[in-house]
Amino acid sequence: MKNVLVTGGAGFIGSNFVRYLLKAEALARVINLDVLTYAGSLENLNELPDVSRHTFVQGDIGDRALVEELFRRYEIDTVVHFAAESHVDRSILGPQLFVQTNVMGTFTLLDVARQVWLNEKSIPLEEVLFHHISTDEVFGSLASCDPAFSESTPYAPNSPYAASKAASDHLVRAYGHTYHLPVTITNCSNNYGPYQFPEKLIPLMILNGIDGKPLPVYGDGLQIRDWLFVEDHCEAIHRVLRKGQTGETYNIGGNNQPTNLEIINTICEILDEKLPSSPQVPHKKLINHVTDRPGHDRRYAMDIHKIQNELGWQPSQDLESGLRLTVDWYLAHPEWVEAIRKQQGYQTWLAQNYQKRGAAG
Ligand code: NAD
Ligand code: TYD
Repeated sequence: MKNVLVTGGAGFIGSNFVRYLLKAEALARVINLDVLTYAGSLENLNELPDVSRHTFVQGDIGDRALVEELFRRYEIDTVVHFAAESHVDRSILGPQLFVQTNVMGTFTLLDVARQVWLNEKSIPLEEVLFHHISTDEVFGSLASCDPAFSESTPYAPNSPYAASKAASDHLVRAYGHTYHLPVTITNCSNNYGPYQFPEKLIPLMILNGIDGKPLPVYGDGLQIRDWLFVEDHCEAIHRVLRKGQTGETYNIGGNNQPTNLEIINTICEILDEKLPSSPQVPHKKLINHVTDRPGHDRRYAMDIHKIQNELGWQPSQDLESGLRLTVDWYLAHPEWVEAIRKQQGYQTWLAQNYQKRGAAG
């Protein structure tokens, strides 16, 4: 792992991973390719441990000439592929970009890796790896009595986002199977933590709570997710890069399955405690049930035995401790929040997604 191409490294998980990797791998150089959509920001890359080993390139993973040039110029031996359109609600309003980025973008990266690593044989094959970051959403929705998703659960994606990620996973697998490209895949559950864009549940609820704005709960709020603190995800990916078996997939999750309402209630309690003189106390009074998301998956749960048993990884934060760290981070970074609020398009997105939602029926 000398020259690592991280795609989407200015987004939420990618930027946390770049920070993690620079600390964990003292000799690795990171080439960070990110086109900087609304979800990516150079502000996410403040406070890197060793900037001299980090090179940022603004560009599109679908730009084949650029990707080829980066592979050759930096002698890339490892790809860690995060870049994607990642928000389910946006995929419902505009699915085309999800196919473009998540499917075609992943195809371009894979095909350049095939060209440079396999055809040109630029680096010994045992020294290269293409690692693809995916999601539990490819497995679809569980009923309350179903067992958790395992690595062999059949794919049944429900949203355009999940379908585009499923398609990209299949391409990665096919490049491994057909061309013997060294690949690994991780499917992870919902992440939360520092630098998450406030369109996703947890940061949105924290910031709305601080501001005394309504906390929009889709439908009955009894949907279940498996939540993982982002640094634990980064550590799991690092384990797979170091010790994972080529051609394998690994499920990653937090081993907890609260309902959305339980999460929101916990956030409200933490805010009450951290901001005791706020006029918003008790923050729970801000909870507001709104019209549900179309096709909303009811429950996700991850069986993480494989990565625990084979690679010795497990989450270090439980939900309560991870949420406390996250609330503290958002309270300590008002300038980061302000920059997003001022970003062109953010207020438009909030209006598009929330204004037309009536009260939950
Ligand atoms: P994010 O939306 O915060 O960041 C995505 C990043 O990719 C942004 O910096 C964006 O600018 C960049 N990007 C988008 N299109 C690009 C393109 N065409 N070329 C180059 N860069 C581009 O996403 P995230 O939450 O950090 O998720 C990262 C990855 O992890 C995604 O692949 C996602 O599917 C997966 N994942 C996310 C979660 C989660 O809970 N957030 C859970 C499991 C898996
Ligand atoms: P989200 O963070 O968008 O992640 P995903 O849809 O990928 O799981 O949503 C997490 C859960 O929270 C999901 O069940 C939808 C719900 N949710 C709300 O109830 N209100 C909101 O405003 C948002 C953004 C999500």
